[in-house]
Amino acid sequence: MSAKPLSQPYPTGTPLPTTSTLPTLFTPLKIRSLTLPNRIIVAPMGMYSAPHNGHLSPFHLPHVTQFALRGAALTIMEATAVLAAGRTSPLDAGLYLDSHIAGMKEVVDAVHALGQKIGIQLNHAGRKASGMPLERGMDARIANKEEGGWPEEVVGASKLRWQEGYVEPREMEEGDFEEVVTGFVRAAERAVEAGFDVIEIHAAHGYLLSSFLSPSSNTRPDKYGGSFANRTRLLLRIITSLRSAIPATMPLFVRISATDWMTHTPSAPQWTLTDSINLAHELDGLGVDLLDVSSGSNNLLQQIPPHAEYQIDLASSIRSSLRGAGKTMLVGAVGRIDNALIARDTVQLNAAGDAKADAALVGRQFLRDPSFVLNVAEALGVEVQWPSQYWRAAPLVGKVSERDAKRVY
Ligand SMILES: Cc1cc2nc3c(=O)[nH]c(=O)nc-3n(C[C@H](O)[C@H](O)[C@H](O)COP(=O)(O)O)c2cc1C
Repeated sequence: MSAKPLSQPYPTGTPLPTTSTLPTLFTPLKIRSLTLPNRIIVAPMGMYSAPHNGHLSPFHLPHVTQFALRGAALTIMEATAVLAAGRTSPLDAGLYLDSHIAGMKEVVDAVHALGQKIGIQLNHAGRKASGMPLERGMDARIANKEEGGWPEEVVGASKLRWQEGYVEPREMEEGDFEEVVTGFVRAAERAVEAGFDVIEIHAAHGYLLSSFLSPSSNTRPDKYGGSFANRTRLLLRIITSLRSAIPATMPLFVRISATDWMTHTPSAPQWTLTDSINLAHELDGLGVDLLDVSSGSNNLLQQIPPHAEYQIDLASSIRSSLRGAGKTMLVGAVGRIDNALIARDTVQLNAAGDAKADAALVGRQFLRDPSFVLNVAEALGVEVQWPSQYWRAAPLVGKVSERDAKRVY
């Protein structure tokens, strides 16, 4: 006879029925067939730890599961290349080979065994490909062939280099478009096979899709450059193809840079918040479930306003425009959400039923504190499920029994 495991009635991070009034942050978020028990999501973060042609390394399993174990409703894995030449560096994770699936599946299965959900961000780095991973105190620079780079194969929206020290990309031609679209679709199919719950398309931070959106990096004269419709064409084509290749039950997220943080003038046009709002209205009709609103990194001269809500405000403007038009696509906010009050206020529904965003994506704070969800819950007075193995460390919230009050460890 085998012994029964410790009982854990809910996934870690789920509020227990003991808390009567819950902040929106600890209410469920339903996205197609997926229900998240809280609204805190681990933002994708490149770890530059896949040195063997995109295959995950022993680093990834403990890295990803530390968040899942401690209550992150959804962890989105790092920007993962859809083509070998689309890696930002020789150390990027990939899903451009069938042999990548097994390593990914191992991480996915471990997260599922912990009762949590996992997504993956798919990327093509465009003109930012073949770089060296950023290290403290080092300038960004290209990875040359001896370092495992592929400077001659770097393609971009136009022949404009990202910055000094990077290569001038080859402007994409007709055959390249087919390859990129197929790359995204095949990588998505592999992600489905590995068991991921969510796919996010990376169309932010000056990587390929983002560089097509912005007129400052896209000066093409053909049907993929010029007008708004032309500059968004590649992204929309990828979304349409990918959406029809993955199960209808599977949520699809898209991350954008909502602004270039540059002054838009007729002689130096930029991607602006207005463009993002117009794009959001289109994505709502294409089966995108959540728009993950980031910003910048497409222009070195960007001027980011120095206040904590710089990106939450962008998400809020987009969400309010969508809701004003009766559109339901969810909006995620990200950027400096690093404490309980900001996390709570980012998604809190007011009396009129409005909120700044529907989900809070958190990056660096999870690296500092993998227990962020559990700690936010305690700070907000919400009793949440802890991993059953750790119950003796869980804070006592609300009405405490005499026996618990006298607990000795
Ligand atoms: C180490 C690190 C790696 C990152 N890698 C990615 C990435 O792979 N894809 C992406 O879209 N954003 C990436 N980002 C940006 C984060 O997802 C997030 O948007 C940003 O850090 C702001 O959120 P935060 O203030 O909560 O950290 C990365 C950030 C960090 C700190």
